[in-house]
Amino acid sequence: MSAAKKSRLNECYSPFNSYRGHVADRFLSNISIRWSRSVKEWINLRMIIMEPTMRTTDIGAIYDDEQFFNNYLELRAKPGNYNDLIEQPCILDLVGDITGKKVIDIGCGFGTLTFALSKLKPLKVVGIDNSVRMLELAKRVNPAQNIEYKRLNAEDLITLGEKFDMVCSSLMFHYIEDLSSMVKSIREMLCDGGRLIFSQEHPILTAGEMGVTVTDLSEGVNIKKYSLDGERHVEWLGKKVVKYHRKISTILNILLDNGFIIEKILEPVPSPDMIEENKRMLTELQRPSYLMIKAVKGVRK
Ligand SMILES: C[S@@+](CC[C@H](N)C(=O)[O-])C[C@H]1O[C@@H](n2cnc3c(N)ncnc32)[C@H](O)[C@@H]1O
Repeated sequence: MSAAKKSRLNECYSPFNSYRGHVADRFLSNISIRWSRSVKEWINLRMIIMEPTMRTTDIGAIYDDEQFFNNYLELRAKPGNYNDLIEQPCILDLVGDITGKKVIDIGCGFGTLTFALSKLKPLKVVGIDNSVRMLELAKRVNPAQNIEYKRLNAEDLITLGEKFDMVCSSLMFHYIEDLSSMVKSIREMLCDGGRLIFSQEHPILTAGEMGVTVTDLSEGVNIKKYSLDGERHVEWLGKKVVKYHRKISTILNILLDNGFIIEKILEPVPSPDMIEENKRMLTELQRPSYLMIKAVKGVRK
């Protein structure tokens, strides 16, 4: 392989594909690197191909799979991970003042956002998630007196039977098949004038099965199937996971159709200082990783 090609491959990066995901991607597209992979990587790749695809709502949900869970924690523990540098600070900026308010964090994972919210003096924060492992960890590493962690499928939100001033959700919406129905439930559980704030993987990334690889920073990105909403089977963290792709217009229309007024839309771009410190972030200038929306429950006439 030529040195130029090698360096282009080194620049390939997608925060949503594991290294093994890249191996699978290249397997399909680039015969010349097949022979440079080690036997261990090939065994891993074969295992991924043979694995069943899992949904977050399956019994023994994907985040409860031991290997996936450990790989996810490893990813989140990496210094300079995008959740800590970009996603969580931006979502907290959108939250604003929640003193004395009742807040729910849907798909709270191990509770990093839930805990940060609890520090903003709300009356209480309820963190819900479908994964037993995530909730056990949340209770252990992110407890607070004003936090309640509960196991619940976000598709059954309405069964909580409680009203909130704010619904937050960080990086979960792309796991939901029927977003319209969930947003309808969110509207019902919000007090009048209550707010919904969420982030999700950017639709540019959810469009193709392999995310978006930046092969050449000067040439931009290769987006696949953006216009086709629907289920995607994605290889991530050594497993096959079901995610749902929706165009930006689909997401906005679901909010509008359910009587929300959109207050802010973010596609965060790292600052020049952040890029200087972490050159990997140059890819964010080609395509954003996250879409974030703040909306308020409007009055229905
Ligand atoms: C990428 S993690 C994000 C975790 C957390 N919000 C954060 O940013 O640290 C996605 C989380 O959503 C949860 N999740 C996915 N689908 C869900 C569903 N239908 N109901 C409840 N939780 C769900 C997963 O179990 C996982 O903890």
